[in-house]
Amino acid sequence: MRFGRVDALVDVTVSISPGEQVLVTGQAASGKTTWLKCLAGLQPPTSGHVRWGPDDVARLDLEERRRRQRSFGMVFQSDALFDSMSVLDNVMLPLTKRQVPRDEAVERARAVLDRVGLSAAHGKRPEELSGGMKKRVGVARAIVAQPSILLADDPFAGLDPSTERSIAELLLEVSRGRTLVTALPDPVASLPLARVLRFEQGRLGSVP
Ligand SMILES: Nc1ncnc2c1ncn2[C@@H]1O[C@H](COP(=O)(O)OP(=O)(O)OP(=O)(O)O)[C@@H](O)[C@H]1O
Ligand SMILES: [Mg+2]
Repeated sequence: MRFGRVDALVDVTVSISPGEQVLVTGQAASGKTTWLKCLAGLQPPTSGHVRWGPDDVARLDLEERRRRQRSFGMVFQSDALFDSMSVLDNVMLPLTKRQVPRDEAVERARAVLDRVGLSAAHGKRPEELSGGMKKRVGVARAIVAQPSILLADDPFAGLDPSTERSIAELLLEVSRGRTLVTALPDPVASLPLARVLRFEQGRLGSVP
């Protein structure tokens, strides 16, 4: 079977300053996740440039790209938690990847799980948690290595209104002093971010 070509992003030029709080909205398949992955250097654009400061990400060597990627923490749309591992081990992953000694990694992961209100869930598996708790684990993992830029992809999907409010409060709290870029289908009152962008079929549209 052949599928037609999809241009997930077209002529998108956006510049984000350190410390900005940005909401990117748009209906399903409008390009939000693709854009966040491009920002974080997880997906190279087929054309165009992603710049971190003055540097084109594509021109950085692998080691330098990995080093700069450490500025980013991402709350994934799909949670992307490993059910075969405990909640604590999931949260420790970014530290383990950076060769942080295990004792220190455990201590930091515990502290961040306490901060997101999951002190009692360290030893559980993600599959044993509710949707809202999983999101909290995702937030904990995204911030455990103290990134300066936090990306949150559709963090309220599938949550009831009160859980949405509590996750929004958590995102606002943990993103203080950081750059925050959040993707949502539409603006929500619980997450009033200063700057709002809207994608329409991969292009930047006007915000109503
Ligand atoms: N790896 C891929 N291969 C082919 N097409 C892709 C891939 N990833 C995304 N797309 C396509 O790019 C377009 C944008 O997808 P993207 O996931 O960025 O949208 P989105 O705005 O995040 O949607 P949603 O709100 O449903 O999460 C869609 O048409 C999608 O099918
Ligand atoms: Mg998406």
